[in-house]
Amino acid sequence: MTTPLPDIRPRRTRATPAWRRLVAQTRLHARELVLPMFVREGVSEPVPISSMPGVVQHTTDSFKRALHDAADAGIGGVMLFGVPAHKDATGSGADDPDGILNVATRIAAAEVGGDLVVQTDLCLDEFTDHGHCGVLDGAGRVDNDASLERYRAMALAQASAGSALLGLSGMMDGQVRAVRDVLDAHGHHDTAILGYAAKYASALYGPFREAVQSSLEGDRRTYQLDPANAREGEREAAIDVAEGADVVMVKPASLYLDVLSRVAAASPVPVWAYQVSGEYSMIEAAAANGWIDRERAVLESLVSIRRAGADGILTYWAVEAAHLLQDGA
Ligand code: PBG
Repeated sequence: MTTPLPDIRPRRTRATPAWRRLVAQTRLHARELVLPMFVREGVSEPVPISSMPGVVQHTTDSFKRALHDAADAGIGGVMLFGVPAHKDATGSGADDPDGILNVATRIAAAEVGGDLVVQTDLCLDEFTDHGHCGVLDGAGRVDNDASLERYRAMALAQASAGSALLGLSGMMDGQVRAVRDVLDAHGHHDTAILGYAAKYASALYGPFREAVQSSLEGDRRTYQLDPANAREGEREAAIDVAEGADVVMVKPASLYLDVLSRVAAASPVPVWAYQVSGEYSMIEAAAANGWIDRERAVLESLVSIRRAGADGILTYWAVEAAHLLQDGA
């Protein structure tokens, strides 16, 4: 008895590059990518971040050049992080108009505000000497409601500096509402809010902590989500939407594609994902060892995050990926 020939042949539409291009269900575009950037106070040369090869802490000059490269590449926006020269218990550099993040925001708004959505990290961890995302109470615990007061001050400083989208990454309860209220009370009706709704307490933020010279000891498990919980991620996204978030985020991306897909299915607002420092470093490290094809791995990681439902992606490869896409990769 001979085996019957297959009468269903899905390989037909995979046969040539032209076929594959025509039937690709998920597409990546430069305009959906957002580049996170670090600007460091008081340096005269860009400082490489050893755990993130290819990423630097910018001087204000190298930052300007990189902003124009980003605009020329046609990406969608930039997310700014400041690395201050001095830190203190309340993170006072965060809402100081002359603090590095607010200075960088004014530069970005002036240089590329017409082409890119200029976004800012609204969180205290880069500015506090203890490294937590909020301020501490007398017992050393992160004080939710006192932290909201600091976020309100930061929000006004960032909106005044020209940020178009405030990235609320601190994971305090009520942060979206607190910030929306203070923005509206001061006439910043057009400043949008990105709720880092489902931000997990992840080991993959390790390289970022070098990037911002974090002084954190311990962890963020009392405010960031437990990696075990998908339902809670959906709930956080729903809360952020109810409080007025214009965009919600899932973070990290690659290890949380299930959460991303669930949030995307339910969300009435755009859903973004943050491909975090550790996701970047893992691929860079493997590629540097010759263990994987770097460009293919980069594009595969991004298309997979899109496929799971992200409308936009924060990625340290934003500009490079934009160039690869132009070249038809
Ligand atoms: C908090 C913040 C973090 C990241 C972005 N915003 C660090 C943290 O929560 O510990 C991590 C980003 C990355 O790892 O690339 N300001």
